[in-house]
Amino acid sequence: MTDAQQDATAILDEVAAEVRVCPKCELARTRTKAVPGEGPADARVMLIGEGPGWHEDQQGRPFVGNAGKFLNELLAIAGLSRADVFITNVVKCRPPGNRDPLPDEIAACSVYLDRQIAAIDPDVIVTLGRFSMARWFPGERISRIHGQPKRDGRRLIVPMYHPAAALHQSALRGAIEEDFAKLPKLLAEIERERDAEAERGEPPTQQMSMF
Ligand code: URA
Ligand code: SF4
Repeated sequence: MTDAQQDATAILDEVAAEVRVCPKCELARTRTKAVPGEGPADARVMLIGEGPGWHEDQQGRPFVGNAGKFLNELLAIAGLSRADVFITNVVKCRPPGNRDPLPDEIAACSVYLDRQIAAIDPDVIVTLGRFSMARWFPGERISRIHGQPKRDGRRLIVPMYHPAAALHQSALRGAIEEDFAKLPKLLAEIERERDAEAERGEPPTQQMSMF
């Protein structure tokens, strides 16, 4: 492990430790276990869901229920496994009865997500569902923009349907499968771009010809 990876791992551990005892919003009072998220600090792909469900709240781990099983299938379509990616949520504690997270809960929890993104510095962020999408695409409709990458500095944000929604609606299921199938090409492109920059010794560019 490089020094940078060691530092990133230490930051992720610190965030996780804080999240597990976090009192910063109402969700702290009803959670069983907080769910900080998991994956390697050098993950090139980060996935951001909505919030823990019942199984996640019991186990303290993200996407371990039915939506999680489907997510594993989607990752396989992209040639990825759970060990390759960092998975977390917009809120780290389960909203009671799986209600939508509230704006003040999302705001209170965003400091943790900010620190996770900064530590991992992924090439690609996949947003799953509308709450993580809203962070980069405020006011957008997922039905209009799913699968269309947007550049944020040197990384790509790819909005996708939430696997829990897509699992039970065949039209969305086809769409999310197609969107995951696009990931290898996007990753290869961004890697090529980075290699070219490193060779030229240039700072990161803001444009990529492909988009
Ligand atoms: N749905 C989410 O958004 N996140 C999880 O961790 C599980 C289900
Ligand atoms: Fe803290 Fe986030 Fe859990 Fe709220 S949801 S208690 S801000 S970790």
